[in-house]
Amino acid sequence: MTTESTTLKGVVLAGGTGSRLFPLTKVTNKHLLPVGRYPMIYHPLLRMRRAGITQIAIVTSPEHMGDVVNLLGSGHELGLDLTYRVQDQPGGIAQAVGLCENFVGDDLFCVILGDNVLADDLAEDAAIYRQQGGGARILLKEVHDPERYGVPRFEDGRIVEIIEKPADPPSNYSVTGIYFYDKQVFDFIRNLEPSRRGEFEVSDVNTAYVNASELTYGILHGWWGDAGTLEGWHEANDLARDLTYEELED
Ligand code: DAU
Repeated sequence: MTTESTTLKGVVLAGGTGSRLFPLTKVTNKHLLPVGRYPMIYHPLLRMRRAGITQIAIVTSPEHMGDVVNLLGSGHELGLDLTYRVQDQPGGIAQAVGLCENFVGDDLFCVILGDNVLADDLAEDAAIYRQQGGGARILLKEVHDPERYGVPRFEDGRIVEIIEKPADPPSNYSVTGIYFYDKQVFDFIRNLEPSRRGEFEVSDVNTAYVNASELTYGILHGWWGDAGTLEGWHEANDLARDLTYEELED
């Protein structure tokens, strides 16, 4: 699990249809809706910045690219260096990551789903992954409703499989939308088959790393939310109501 690069880049995914939040998302992108004091997409971006990740690619759909760029521009105001990639059709999280191959080059990178909101600082996890030097690292959170998420199956404390939205979850952990990958992820993505719902699934990517014995995991201790459903969006707003980023208060 070693590569020569220790640069950590970032990828934030803000594509998809936002259908579970319709009609809130009828004329705007889900990731531009407010969560607490900020547009949703600020949360993953500022978690990355705090972890020292400033070169970030944002993936979104053709319909909403203009609005996302209007909000964020070059990233200069947030202390970020932003690049944009268009995902023509919402073919899944793995497909969206695959669009960032040239941006990533030989570097390591962190992916955060644009609807994930969290309290934890990611600096320590980023440092652990830099030290790991390659392979993948994912972050888990204990939840009461694992069937809503990707769920790890453990054997002797090791993850042996990750199942997307299982009817009968094998553990009480959700795989959060925070992933650290090396460039071999792009080979795994090229070899994926679409799932039953017709998407290229991130859980299959993570299972490919499990099969290569190159997946490690950490556990988030603070609150974490996926704001992609109405219930999740309300919950994330409650959790993030008083959250401020000192970087923005300078
Ligand atoms: O939040 C954690 C969960 O996120 C994980 O536990 C699941 O394994 C993972 O599949 C994902 O599940 P969701 O059902 O929440 O995924 P969703 O379709 O809402 O997409 C999550 C984000 O990814 C969303 O903010 C937009 C982005 N996305 C999604 C799709 C399908 C894209 O950029 N392009 C896409 O084609």
